[in-house]
Amino acid sequence: MEVVLLPDAAAVGRLAAARVAAVVRRRPSAVLGLATGSSPEGIYAELARLVAAGELDLSGVRCFALDEYVGLPAQHPQSYASVLRRSVVEPLRLDPAQVRVPDGCAADLEAAAAEYERAIAAAGGVDLQILGIGANGHVGFNEPTSSFASRTRIKTLAPRTRADNARFFAGPDEVPTHCLTQGLGTILDARELVLVAQGEAKADAVAAAVEGPLSSMCPASALQLHPRASVLVDEAAGVRL
Ligand code: GLP
Repeated sequence: MEVVLLPDAAAVGRLAAARVAAVVRRRPSAVLGLATGSSPEGIYAELARLVAAGELDLSGVRCFALDEYVGLPAQHPQSYASVLRRSVVEPLRLDPAQVRVPDGCAADLEAAAAEYERAIAAAGGVDLQILGIGANGHVGFNEPTSSFASRTRIKTLAPRTRADNARFFAGPDEVPTHCLTQGLGTILDARELVLVAQGEAKADAVAAAVEGPLSSMCPASALQLHPRASVLVDEAAGVRL
């Protein structure tokens, strides 16, 4: 695992975006794995700058989101489909059809999860997966106790995750209780992983992921098993390393 300590959040975003750009320049039809949350916002902003400057062409990429809430229609402003439309599709000038998000409103959620796995495989797998990390060490919505071998499936959100994400909703009770998320096994299948973290609130999770034992209690520690995983953190997130 490569760990890079950077002076601030902007530097984290720039370096992670440079990793994404390198993959796309090598392979214009690259398959990218997208994360939501505040952590990757700097990556998407820097990629948007490169696209606007004519330095990067993303017209051939295909993208798969990590996760989606169950029960929020795609048009809901806090669905990850909407979040990715605002933070990725529009600023990066993608065609909406280039970005797939699990269908959290499917009548048969298990079938939707299995179909999502098939779609990733049919695309040839993910070339580079962007990851954030939850304060409890979750990646995607793989909460503590998630199996390292898990595939896309329905998960119950941990109380801490619901509390952390309540800021995006009218109140804590509005936060969905379940999600569809790529599994840790799905994530580990990507050819390259880039996890970004900023701020001291993530410092314990980053230390557990990088230096702690492999443990399903810290799902991000699964990255230690990957041959090409980078953890890019600002000073505050790296303070317990
Ligand atoms: C969210 C997402 C994760 C994200 C994490 C951290 O709930 N499902 O993909 O990495 O929690 O979020 P943030 O970056 O806003 O701190």
